[in-house]
Order: sequence, then structure tokens, then C-alpha cells
Amino acid sequence: MGYLAGIDIGTSGTKTLIITDAGEVVASATVEYPLLTPRPGWAEQHPQDWWQASVDSLRQAVVEAGISGTDIQGVGLSGQMHGSVFLDEKGQVIRPALLWCDQRTGAQCDWINETAGESLVVEETSNPVLTGFTAPKIIWLRQKEPENYAKMTKCLLPKDYVRYRLTGEFHSEVSDASGTALFNVKERRWSTALLNKIDLDPSVLPEVHESPVASAVISGEAAELMGLKPGTPVVGGGGDQAAGAVGNGIVSQGIVSSTLGTSGVLFAFLEEPLVDPELRTHTFCHAVPGKWHVMGVMLSAGGSFRWIRDTLCGAERDVSANLGQDPYVLMCEEAAAAPAGCEGLVFLPYLTGERTPYPDPAAKGVFYGLHLRHQRAHMIRAVMEGVAFGMKDSFDILDAMGVPMTQVRASGGGARSPLWRQIQADVTGRTHSVINVEEGPALGVALLAGVGTDAWGSVEEACEAAIDVVGSTEPIPENRDLYAKCHPIYQGLYRDLSSRFQETAKLFE
Ligand code: XUL
Repeated sequence: MGYLAGIDIGTSGTKTLIITDAGEVVASATVEYPLLTPRPGWAEQHPQDWWQASVDSLRQAVVEAGISGTDIQGVGLSGQMHGSVFLDEKGQVIRPALLWCDQRTGAQCDWINETAGESLVVEETSNPVLTGFTAPKIIWLRQKEPENYAKMTKCLLPKDYVRYRLTGEFHSEVSDASGTALFNVKERRWSTALLNKIDLDPSVLPEVHESPVASAVISGEAAELMGLKPGTPVVGGGGDQAAGAVGNGIVSQGIVSSTLGTSGVLFAFLEEPLVDPELRTHTFCHAVPGKWHVMGVMLSAGGSFRWIRDTLCGAERDVSANLGQDPYVLMCEEAAAAPAGCEGLVFLPYLTGERTPYPDPAAKGVFYGLHLRHQRAHMIRAVMEGVAFGMKDSFDILDAMGVPMTQVRASGGGARSPLWRQIQADVTGRTHSVINVEEGPALGVALLAGVGTDAWGSVEEACEAAIDVVGSTEPIPENRDLYAKCHPIYQGLYRDLSSRFQETAKLFE
């Protein structure tokens, strides 16, 4: 039997998953690393941490699987999207990478729009340029750290830096390249027109392939470090959202995934590149060759839940540590004691600004409607409801775009909570299904590694082998009706507060 490995370079840690070439999960291991926030709005990581975590998690997963690393026939890479790893001519990292959730580049987005023309940006990339995307990060380096910019000969996405360490090659693939704001999404190639306008040399960018293509092989040095066979194929893989969608079986029209990780993403497969006329969603290449996807992205979904755990739920953390339990389980039990609608308490989950439905780096988190009656249970539940309202905004946009949504698959850490699944079903009025595997992006790219090494004939065939729907959560009619009345209040709060967010941003950032 052959084995395949998927390595997912996430924001909180790197996870390696090993599956058989029949699609069965045999082992996984995760190694964490810190997120650096040197200034308000900044988010950085050390690429060396990703590499070390990839080596360590792969070695741990191989031990857990009880196999030899040399049994692994193919490797796929997934990762947090949009980040920028700046390398010098020796392939050394110049400074910490700027991440997807970094909001420092507002002025650089404006500069790109003014210099290239907003309509050219949208025409070429099928998206607006947003603060989290890669292009404004490169321009930031040029404007703010010219000495570092002068040294830069390559700019890579997070997973493509790990590929470089694994194979020595500068390669990427279409799904992650789509999030750079430098890629012609319709034609699946770098946008020379845009690169010329903003005076960026195309040689700083990696060569791009379709996601299941085995474009490079593991070098002797990396093989020795990881205990793998030299020459093992490494496939393109995918940005974490496209890869996660493969891991959820979102490879045909009608099935969509609603994923609550740090970010919250509603993801739909597209046969053709369809763009929201108001540019509130992202239209990117899918990891399925020749296909696209559209997604609404909230920046702080699970991130808001982690924030309330870390700031207000010290007691839950202590009790669960004593019981050897996950504090989130206890928090969900507590939240279940608060009624639907939280007696008027509403949470806006814009803790790191927002993308969908408001591309607004200045947006902030808000608790609205606090009353003496409100307890911590209400606040925890309000966070869960606020995130679900934000996801409903994305459902409404995709609906208006005419994207078919016949089955919703709940995924990510948020899908593990029956209460949060119920809240999502109630708020959106849609049944939320669950599947047999919850490995997301790491599974997606392990499957792509199987496609690239001929274990399966296509991405669709790989998903068919590994993924089944095993349950579903139906909306509760009375909660659905109540939430339908609460959603406009939630939406009105952003409208009422958006100018205040701008004022606050000017004062404190
Ligand atoms: C997608 C996005 C996030 C990151 C981190 O556009 O920004 O999903 O990839 O997970």
C-alpha cells in the first residue's frame, strides 16, 4: 500500500496528515508556532518556524502512522494564503513574513489603485486589491523598508516557501496565486499588465502550475532531514481555502462549504469565473484544474471565539484544564444556557477589520445591547451568533449572484460544536451537513498528491473515494424566525458605526 502526505501551514500551527492511497486517514500531527503582532494591525510570522514545524510534524505523523517515511509516494502543500516571504539572492529570508490578517497596507492598496487604475486591477485579477493580499505587501516593503526591498529577489507565499525548502524550486499553483492581487484569475497566469503598471519585475514571482501537478521533487537534503525518499513528487497543492474545499468535497456545482477556522469562509465551486459586481467576495482559481470558486471571507470567526476564550473565560480554562477537557466544550455548554437572540445582545465580529461583506480594515468588534441581566453565557453565545450573522451576509451575496447552493457542508473547528452548527443552521435557515472527515486543507492536498501521482484519475475521483456526508443539522423554525428579525439589527450596527470606526482608527493607529 502507498501513502500520501498533506502538509498545511496554518496560522496557529502546521499540520501534517498521512492517508493511504485509498483515501483513508492514518495519522496526523500538528506543531504550533507564535503569531507576532509588533504593532496594532500588524501580523507576522517567521518562515523558518513553518519549515521547522513541517519537518517536525511530518516526522511525528510518520511515527504515529507506524510506517517508514520512504513509503510516502507524494506530498501536497497547503497554507495560509496571501502572506509574503521575501527572499534574497541566496534564498535567505529577509524579514518576518507579513500575513493574510495584516492590515498595515491601506495606503499601498490606494497607491496600486491610483497607479494601475482600479478598473484594470479588477479586470485583470477579478478582485479588488485588499490590505491582506500580497501585492500591497510588496509595495509596502518598497516604500517603507527600501533597504530590504533592494535585497529581494523572490516573493513567495507561505506554503511555497516550504516547497522551496523541500525541493529547491520556486513554484506555486493557481489557487494561492489568485490571492496575490497580481494574478490574472480568468486566464490562470501572472498579470503582466498589472506588474508593468506597478513596476514589479515578474522574475520575483514563482512559476505557476495547476494544483494537482507534481512540478518538483524532494531534494536529497530535505529527504534526509524529513526521513523521506529523495525524488518524491511534490504537487502544487492549494491555498488553504481551495485545499480545504477539496478536503470537503466541494468539487462540483451546488455543494458549498461553510468553514469556521480563524477566518470564516463560505466557499462555492464555479464552472466559470463569476465576480460579485460590488466586489464583496473573492473570485479565485479552484484547485480543480480549469475551474474557479467564489468565497465570502470573514477575518475573525473562530478568531472571535478564541478571543473571548482568552479574555473572558479564564474560569472555563481553569476548570477544563483540571478536567483534561477542551475549554471550548465548556464554553459551548455555558452558551447553550442563554436563549437564542441573547435577549438583545449583539456582537459584531470585526476584531481584525473585515473583508466580506465590508472590505474595511478599520472595522472593529462591538458588543451592543448590554443589560444588567446579561451574563458571560450571553456574551459567549452572542459571539457565536455574530459570526453566524456574518456568514449569513456571505450566503445572501452568493444568492444574489445566482450561485447555486443546494447542500451546505459545515467544516472547520466551529463545525465540531453542535450548538454552533445549530446556530448557523438557524441564522441562515439552511440545513448544515457534516462529513466523515474533518481534516480540511491537509486532507485536500494529500488527495491532490494522490491525483498528481496517479492514485486517482481526477480530483473528483479522489474526493469520491474519501468523503461522505454522515449527518445534518436542520434549522429550528422559531429560532430561524427570530434570527431573521435580528439580522437587520446586526447589519444596521455596522452602517451606523462605520464612520466611528474610521475616527477611532485615525486616533489610535
Ligand atoms: C483566505 C484567507 C484566509 C487565510 C488564512 O482568503 O485570507 O483563509 O488563508 O486561513
